[in-house]
Amino acid sequence: MYSEKVMEHFRNPRNVGEIEDADGVGVVGNPKCGDIMKMYLKIEDGIIVDAKFKTFGCGSAIASSSMATEMIKGKTIEEAMKVTNKAVAEALDGLPPIKMHCSVLAEQAIKAALLDYAKKNNIEIDGLEDFD
Ligand code: FES
Ligand code: FES
Repeated sequence: MYSEKVMEHFRNPRNVGEIEDADGVGVVGNPKCGDIMKMYLKIEDGIIVDAKFKTFGCGSAIASSSMATEMIKGKTIEEAMKVTNKAVAEALDGLPPIKMHCSVLAEQAIKAALLDYAKKNNIEIDGLEDFD
């Protein structure tokens, strides 16, 4: 049912923890299951230099958070905005259909953290207008 990659990221998640002086922090909850994901971003000159997460949730949510943080590290804000839940799920070699909402949590956590960063710095990020 689960790909090797999902299992591997679940057993050995990357970037777990928090960033104390994070530039953007986002918390999102999944109304379907009650799982919660918190994302911390360190951003320098428009580049995400570090990302960490804490997820209280299912294995797919943990694997998605792990993969999502790996995908945005070293990327520009614009590139990180393109990391959709589909991209995260594909990078994990797929998720079972009933677990796709777990990857949605990862996309939303990234966007929530970017929105927090944008608000703190009084900047606008294309594509974030509708996210709140
Ligand atoms: Fe807890 Fe499914 S949400 S086991
Ligand atoms: Fe809730 Fe996976 S079951 S995020």
